[in-house]
Amino acid sequence: MRMSVIGCGYLGAVHAAAMASIGHDVVGIDVDAQKVAALANGTAPFFEPQLGELLQEGLTSGRLRFSTEMSEASGAAIHFIAVGTPQIAGGHAADLRFVDAAVAALLPHLHPGDVVAGKSTVPVGTAERLSAAVAGTGATLVWNPEFLREGWAVHDTISPDRLVLGVPSGSDGERAAEALREAYRPAVDAGTPFLVTDLATAELVKGAANAFLATKISFINAMAEIAEASGADVALLADALGHDTRIGRRYLGSGIGFGGGCLPKDIRAFAARAEELGRGEAVGFLREVDSINIRRRDRAVQLVVDALGGLVFGRRIAVLGAAFKPFSDDIRDSPALDVAVRLRGLGADVVVTDPAALENAAAAHPQLGYATERDDALRDADAVVIVTEWDLYRREMTPEHAGSLVAGRVIIDGRNCLDSAAWRAAGWTYHGMGRR
Ligand code: UDX
Repeated sequence: MRMSVIGCGYLGAVHAAAMASIGHDVVGIDVDAQKVAALANGTAPFFEPQLGELLQEGLTSGRLRFSTEMSEASGAAIHFIAVGTPQIAGGHAADLRFVDAAVAALLPHLHPGDVVAGKSTVPVGTAERLSAAVAGTGATLVWNPEFLREGWAVHDTISPDRLVLGVPSGSDGERAAEALREAYRPAVDAGTPFLVTDLATAELVKGAANAFLATKISFINAMAEIAEASGADVALLADALGHDTRIGRRYLGSGIGFGGGCLPKDIRAFAARAEELGRGEAVGFLREVDSINIRRRDRAVQLVVDALGGLVFGRRIAVLGAAFKPFSDDIRDSPALDVAVRLRGLGADVVVTDPAALENAAAAHPQLGYATERDDALRDADAVVIVTEWDLYRREMTPEHAGSLVAGRVIIDGRNCLDSAAWRAAGWTYHGMGRR
């Protein structure tokens, strides 16, 4: 099928490359000429495993191209809208200006029978609002939320755990659903659940899924607070809870909490929209989820301060990690970098290292010290803080090797990802988050 993908950020670039890889003829369109040039050259403008290979393959096959010209969308059967919906300045709601601009710019290039498929995360009601303008061209607007995780984006796009599609009622909606079913044929044939809903439900599924995941993380982090006060161990608690199949162990990873370009802003936008709908009370708990999350960053900083005897001023601290999670160079709302910035604010001599996100971190926070190599960050450190659980720190760093480099064997495990017994046995003072 011929497709256009409007917006070539994390979501759109991966979607365009993935659609080409399953045999479609795809044009990715973005207003950012630099991004388009990089993509057209086969270079992923951000770190995402497998994306580079997929881009090269698509460009070589001729099935994938990129452009800054919206007119290039003309002739495609499906137009995916994949632009960003950041948090609005000075508020919690989603800023929809990029979605609105993308749809407005696309309108003159639509033909009767085209399908416009929104993938961006939007407040419920957005699709309904945009439908009339799209319908005026004879095209049909549907909503097809994306659930991909950074670091797993290619896998999640080609082999999603479910496909959700909101369509308007009537024959146009049915035809559009058929078009999307065809677009995702390999996944559908492989048995991926394909749920067709109304527009509002499809928009809500995305918000609700993110709200649930964030709640699960903050739940275990709230238990970490109780564990800290009672002498229990939250990591063992999570293991024990996780064996209950109704609960499950995934997303019960305790530590410095969630960040990134999605969960934090999405739960705030979800609550803001609920307020607008007069149902703010129903999601009042999301405010707690947010505050528990932020409290964990305070707690990590406090642990470092306490571990260094109450004062970090002038002390050298190795901060292992800057990305909001491993397999990503994304530092948007990164709890890891926030901890580093706060320690620097207290006067510590902070040296941050990260295998992928260092360039982004240095551009955003030039006041911090940086080391490209992990061992250079460790050298002469008075304390070590793990804030992103890269394998380089979690699996490939032994307490003996790290101990040979540092000035003081003090480690704060902000992701509860280390074997505390092994580190203690090697003479380290180990502090976990909510762990004995
Ligand atoms: C998330 C959702 O998973 C995805 O479905 C949605 O489409 C976009 O938002 P992503 O932002 O890539 O994806 O990150 P995710 O893997 O969900 O992790 C989010 C944050 O939660 C990270 O900072 C991570 O470190 C943290 N996290 C995750 C925990 O603190 N504990 C956990 O157990 C899991």
